[in-house]
Amino acid sequence: MTQANMGLIGTGTMGSALALNIAENGYDVAVWNLELSAVDALIASAGDLAQRLVRCDKIVNLVHNLAAPRAIILLVPAGKAVDRCIDELLPLLTPGDTIIDGGNSDFRDTIKRTKRLEEVGLAYLGIGVSGGAEGARRGPSMMAGGTSANYAAVEPILAAIAAKYNGDPCVAHLGPDGAGHFVKTVHNGIEYADMQMIAEVYGLLRDGEGLSAGEGASFFDRWNHGVLESYLIGVTAEVLATKDPQTGAEIVDLIIDKAGQKGTGRWTVIEAIRMGQSASIIEAAVGARVLSSEKTTREIAAPLLVPAGIDTMVTFSEQDLESALIVGRVLAYAQGFRILNAASEEFNWELDFARIAEIWRAGCIIRSAMLDDIADAFRTDLPNGRLVLSEHFIEVLSQNVAGLRRVVAAAALRGLPVPALAAALSWFDTLRQARGTTDLIQAQRDFFGAHSFQRVDVAGYHHGPWDVDKT
Ligand code: 6PG
Repeated sequence: MTQANMGLIGTGTMGSALALNIAENGYDVAVWNLELSAVDALIASAGDLAQRLVRCDKIVNLVHNLAAPRAIILLVPAGKAVDRCIDELLPLLTPGDTIIDGGNSDFRDTIKRTKRLEEVGLAYLGIGVSGGAEGARRGPSMMAGGTSANYAAVEPILAAIAAKYNGDPCVAHLGPDGAGHFVKTVHNGIEYADMQMIAEVYGLLRDGEGLSAGEGASFFDRWNHGVLESYLIGVTAEVLATKDPQTGAEIVDLIIDKAGQKGTGRWTVIEAIRMGQSASIIEAAVGARVLSSEKTTREIAAPLLVPAGIDTMVTFSEQDLESALIVGRVLAYAQGFRILNAASEEFNWELDFARIAEIWRAGCIIRSAMLDDIADAFRTDLPNGRLVLSEHFIEVLSQNVAGLRRVVAAAALRGLPVPALAAALSWFDTLRQARGTTDLIQAQRDFFGAHSFQRVDVAGYHHGPWDVDKT
């Protein structure tokens, strides 16, 4: 029987693409899927690579087609399906074997699963795989969590199949157990924020400037040759320029404006808030998707909630829109890295932020030209690890924030929603406010709850001279 180099369970879109990528890099892959027809479809479409794919009709045969110590990667939906695979594999594996979860799993599940497997002498790696189907096929970015030794055992295969940035494989061992999946979750949070801000600018072009999708496409196309150069801006230009083959209409105009989500953006926000971190741009992006699903409510509200104070003379300049997206992107990355920093401290992961930025430079959904500068900033001059305070980004922000300010103000005057861009601007303005307004909140808390406050002039905790009627 052929002894494959790796086992792969789950031949859906991502799994099939990854299997072909592994095969193309010279490794034999034993493949199994609950619906066997998906394995057959993969092999039928694999061309010459089919000879490197070992069709397994049962999970037990997948295990038998691998020489110990085995490495089996799961590309199944996050949640119960992962546990089902582990349950089935456990009695078949022998100590030293490794199960790799390549899905978008909740890092807390990954921590639990790692413990469960280690107790029986098995290894577990939680690897966030980014790049969609094309990335999986041509080279994804991969964020790995687990022990160094277990990672080292599969590193050659991962490095071979990873996207390369100037020859550097976009894969890294980032920390123990849940670290990789946590970093992938935050990657997705940033992805949500970037997508939302792009969608807001598309809305300003469409509803503010009256441009067609095709006309909007050319803006994104131009921006993709500057500071904003990135996968998501490129995708936007391409999507907006695409016509529906059946009707000839611009395809985006035929798509219902209700956004789906599988959970990673929401998890980012939940974890950020739990750790006392502000993730306002990501939060706005998650909230915007949620509200987008209330299509019926919006349709009912549209004629009823008439906007007062609209100034139809206000317009949006191309340069300001570009600046708005630049500042929004810098700040969304900054929020993401602050969440990573908080988690690194809480879980003792010692995350290498520069390396994370480096492995996001190719293959993943949030890859962008800016990540090279982010990696440099983390390697050189970061006061308190805060991206916005690096020399380079202080300069980028000061050059572009006026554009963001004009865009948010103009959007408000036109009655057009820009929740993520507005959150970005408020976050920026809050950060640069050495004296904020929570002195009042402290006073209010003390007034009704005797919570006490600190004074600027006398050390210790104090109460105000409130005249509160306690009767
Ligand atoms: C990636 C993507 C990918 C997918 C997510 C988000 O990095 O390749 O993040 O993992 O897009 O599942 O999906 P939702 O938008 O459905 O949450």
